[in-house]
Amino acid sequence: MTGLKAAVIGCGDVSAVHFEAIAKLDGARLAGVCDSDPGRLAAAVAAYGVPGFPDHLSLIEAVGPDVVHITTPHNMHATIAVDCLERGVNVIVEKPLAHTLKEGRRLVAAAEGSDAKIAVCFQNRYNATSQAMHALLSSGELGAVVGASATVLWHRDADYYLSRPWRGTWTGAVAGS
Ligand SMILES: NC(=O)c1ccc[n+]([C@@H]2O[C@H](COP(=O)([O-])OP(=O)(O)OC[C@H]3O[C@@H](n4cnc5c(N)ncnc54)[C@H](O)[C@@H]3O)[C@@H](O)[C@H]2O)c1
Repeated sequence: MTGLKAAVIGCGDVSAVHFEAIAKLDGARLAGVCDSDPGRLAAAVAAYGVPGFPDHLSLIEAVGPDVVHITTPHNMHATIAVDCLERGVNVIVEKPLAHTLKEGRRLVAAAEGSDAKIAVCFQNRYNATSQAMHALLSSGELGAVVGASATVLWHRDADYYLSRPWRGTWTGAVAGS
């Protein structure tokens, strides 16, 4: 088998987008999946036909991925990303970069000390509205920007938060210091 070896860590809702992207990329192939939940891991192994692992370190050890997609809850992003960077594995991590400032700084330091690359999913930067605002600010038409305010009109109902143990919790999802 040829192509860069990609692996997905965290096989929940958003991982579907990442699996689809890997499948569409020339020169890349899915080589393994990881999830700490046995049921989700089994479902991903069955769906994608690649080896599955219950933790990211055993996946890295066995698969030797060129790149991992980290799609776990927020509070595991930095820990897993640092472990990957320290082992020379390139990282695509879902937003947020980390769930605390301290963890974010630890991740930045690991990235600066690694030859591996890291990218954070902030796909909304490519939305037409974001691009239009960027163009307007870059044009200088508004002069010096001294303040800004933005509102995102998205709604997630109680079912979204209640359907996972980490969503909307202080330990799993809320940024701290
Ligand atoms: N860029 C976007 O637009 C976008 C959209 C949705 C979600 N996200 C981000 O993606 C992340 C995941 O969101 P989701 O809705 O898919 O969550 P989810 O709960 O549906 O999926 C997370 C998966 O990670 C697994 N997991 C938990 N800890 C793990 C660990 N230590 N090792 C391996 N697997 C582990 C869980 O068992 C679960 O299957 C969140 O950080 C969220 O902010 C980004």
